[in-house]
Amino acid sequence: MDHQDDRAFLRQFSAVIVGFMLLTIALIFLARYMQPDPDADANPSQAILKEQRILPVGEVRYGEEGAAALAEVQAAAAAPVVEEVAIVDGDQVYGGLCKTCHDAGVAGAPLAASDQMATRLDEKGLETLVYNAINGLNAMPPRGGNPNLTDEQIQAAVEFMLP
Ligand code: HEC
Repeated sequence: MDHQDDRAFLRQFSAVIVGFMLLTIALIFLARYMQPDPDADANPSQAILKEQRILPVGEVRYGEEGAAALAEVQAAAAAPVVEEVAIVDGDQVYGGLCKTCHDAGVAGAPLAASDQMATRLDEKGLETLVYNAINGLNAMPPRGGNPNLTDEQIQAAVEFMLP
């Protein structure tokens, strides 16, 4: 190999390297071009959430502003808690939960407004039926699986289920 060959090789090698560099730059621009602008379709609630996340845990207030804020909080604390009134509507309670099993007779559930319920009513009486609906019976979970239902709501639902 003489000098002539070396030079020719170096020239070609440099050309290849320069070619790759140009390709790299081209790919960088192509990638930038293809990447969507992150701000363009940003969810506006994200910014609010971010603000909330980095909100300070507490605030120090003093002077008149502090006194006013304190009075406001104390008034809120002193205000009587409004008890959430549970709506006692058998139709609604039944339709919201009990129906899933009692319309189709899932796992042997007595069909609502059927002879099956009439028989149970005759045999056990309303009080026992309500008691079992509240506490659960075999495949039926207590309160049909919703512990938030009140006794009154369960009773209303059971009465609604009777033929
Ligand atoms: C997961 C399914 C399921 C849900 C939900 C469900 N039940 Fe039942 N229920 C059953 C089954 C099964 C039985 C029969 C239990 C047995 O006798 O072995 C039954 C039985 C009953 C009985 C008869 C109890 C007795 O003593 O014979 C009443 C009353 C009743 N359910 C009321 C309700 C009410 C009211 C709701 C809604 C709050 C409800 N059920 C939700 C499955 C369910």
